[in-house]
Amino acid sequence: MPGPASRYPDMHARSIRDSEGFWRDAAGAIDWTSEGERTFDASQGIYGRWFPGWTTNVCHNAVDRHVDSGRGAQPAMFYDSPVAGAKRTVTYAELKDEVSLLAGVLRELGVDKGDRVVIYMPMIPEAVFAMLACARIGAVHSVVFGGFAAAELASRIEDAQPKVVLSASCGIEPSRVVHYKPLLDLALTMAKHKPDACLIFQRPQIEARLVADRDHDWAARREQARAAGTRADCVPVEATDPLYILYTSGTTGKPKGVVRDSGGYMVALRWSMEGLYDVRPGEVYWSASDIGWVVGHSYIVYAPLLAGCTTVLYEGKPVGTPDAGAFWRVIEEYRVAVLFTAPTALRAIKKEDPEGRLMGDYDRSSLRTLFLAGERADPDTVEWAKARLGVPVVDHWWQTETGWAIAGNPVGLGALPIRVGSTGVPMPGYQVDILDEGGHPVGPDRMGSIAIKLPLPPGCLPTLWRQDERFRESYLVDFPGYYKTADAGFTDANGQLFIMGRTDDIINVAGHRLSTGGMEEVLAAHADVAECAVIGIHDELKGEVPCGFVVLKAGVFRSPADIEAEIVALVRERIGPVAAFRLAITVNRLPKTRSGKILRGTMKKIADAEPWNMPATIDDPAALDEIALALGARGFAKVTAA
Ligand code: COA
Ligand code: AMP
Repeated sequence: MPGPASRYPDMHARSIRDSEGFWRDAAGAIDWTSEGERTFDASQGIYGRWFPGWTTNVCHNAVDRHVDSGRGAQPAMFYDSPVAGAKRTVTYAELKDEVSLLAGVLRELGVDKGDRVVIYMPMIPEAVFAMLACARIGAVHSVVFGGFAAAELASRIEDAQPKVVLSASCGIEPSRVVHYKPLLDLALTMAKHKPDACLIFQRPQIEARLVADRDHDWAARREQARAAGTRADCVPVEATDPLYILYTSGTTGKPKGVVRDSGGYMVALRWSMEGLYDVRPGEVYWSASDIGWVVGHSYIVYAPLLAGCTTVLYEGKPVGTPDAGAFWRVIEEYRVAVLFTAPTALRAIKKEDPEGRLMGDYDRSSLRTLFLAGERADPDTVEWAKARLGVPVVDHWWQTETGWAIAGNPVGLGALPIRVGSTGVPMPGYQVDILDEGGHPVGPDRMGSIAIKLPLPPGCLPTLWRQDERFRESYLVDFPGYYKTADAGFTDANGQLFIMGRTDDIINVAGHRLSTGGMEEVLAAHADVAECAVIGIHDELKGEVPCGFVVLKAGVFRSPADIEAEIVALVRERIGPVAAFRLAITVNRLPKTRSGKILRGTMKKIADAEPWNMPATIDDPAALDEIALALGARGFAKVTAA
């Protein structure tokens, strides 16, 4: 229940009752070049559009306006890379300098308003400059996470059709240097679409080979632009114009291009910095994510900068770079006020340093709140962090599609009592209902599909890139009048939400969202595989990891172990190391219903040693026993049918 001091209930009620007025007030924190008459027009777009007719520029709001208002000397970003052994502080004035130069270079390379730019880069300051430079000239960026393989990069290039690709010679993982350029070159041979140019940042660890007439050296072009005085100013864009496309896993191998608009996104993010995270301009906000994910877009780059905070760009891991004290060192060094990370990172720290001894080596007095998202936060980990860090640990729930939290604990309005296991209450503009299969709201404490009443609030996706129909089919058709989140869960009597899992075949591996359908497409492409099924199984560290079952074609007499190793390598090659696909198991057949549907849900329960019921429609019950045996042979506990 809201505490007496929380302004949450009134705030949320108003955001629904008078949504136009609520968001108009919130829009006061943003600089606009022109304001429209309405804040929402239900007749535009698929379910309406926010801030139609308003014009603005995101880079101006994130960078220039702070320089204009006297924050030029304040750090905008602390870059800290234990893997590269590098640190750099970038002030707002320096950020403006770098971004306007790079925007000038993009212009010279032919990039114009509305053109797409793919950014395939590691966690270095230039990646942030790249995103902001696109925003400055109204180009639409699409950042691709470095842990994806060439084929995934190719499919994004194919879909976004970028004029230019920005990349770097390498990324640095603790175990190896990841050569980006050969992956990019391969992706460009795979994709039918060819960009006009690539701009390559050479890192000191590896010098990439540049392709004549296509590749440009980043540093050289930057110096030329500086010498020639080539800079680009902020151009006004429509609030409804896309700022970026971010691809996320769908239920097939073809990723969904989530479109983010410019104006509504800024308004929502700016509101969240004070209302949800309770941070003020000038404070240090650290999201320990990656710019390749939505959390990185929103809370490494845009929100902290829109709010005039200092963001931390951390190129490292929670453990092993060099130890489980890394996060606490960063907090001390930069006086971090708010940390946002995924539960898996805490589990990794807890595993290495169960007593939290390394925390004692650092001054963490600047830290006020720890926010968690990206996957289910298990109560053990939350309690462990709370007890040792001595600050509130706030779980909040969101998706790539929404761009910011759907539900959380609005610390800035006066925190609500925290119920461990719950992801809090709906944020402004979100009307969340739990629906039964027929689309009817169910009462408290009853599990159902979680859906958000339309319209979605500002910041959420208006559609999928050039795929309006897929947007409708994926999200709007099942529950008319609602957006289907594809998460299942319930609310308690106080309206606190509990997220229990996905209703589709998306799995969450170390906070990374992956499609088992996409992995099945890769397994099925192996010459010896007749059919396959991929499920996510419980993992102590990563939450879930994928496990693939394969049935070999008749007449294949090769060693199953060899084929399994090839399959593991194939997923790494086609999807990337981020899939963490290490377990392939050969079976004689897959358990199916009489109509031929593979019983993935029951297979998962068996693998996770959860009680399971024999499905009434099963074709042959013995097929499930075979799965249990195969899993048992690999060391997975089994529980027999109830
Ligand atoms: N570029 C290239 N490869 C990458 C990569 C990148 N940006 N990020 C990860 N990888 C690789 C890793 O090197 C690893 O490869 P390997 O199989 O050769 O070891 C693989 O992808 C899996 O990486 P990861 O999921 O990071 O696992 P890990 O075992 O290296 O580390 C954790 C485990 C828990 C420390 C790590 O997953 C973590 O910090 N998670 C936080 C998640 C997060 O921030 N999510 C964002 C949502 S809020
Ligand atoms: P992504 O689009 O990668 O951010 O992944 C979104 C999915 O991650 C959601 O649909 C949920 O299944 C899961 N998720 C995100 N945050 C949480 C959370 N706080 N608790 C439980 N699941 C979460």
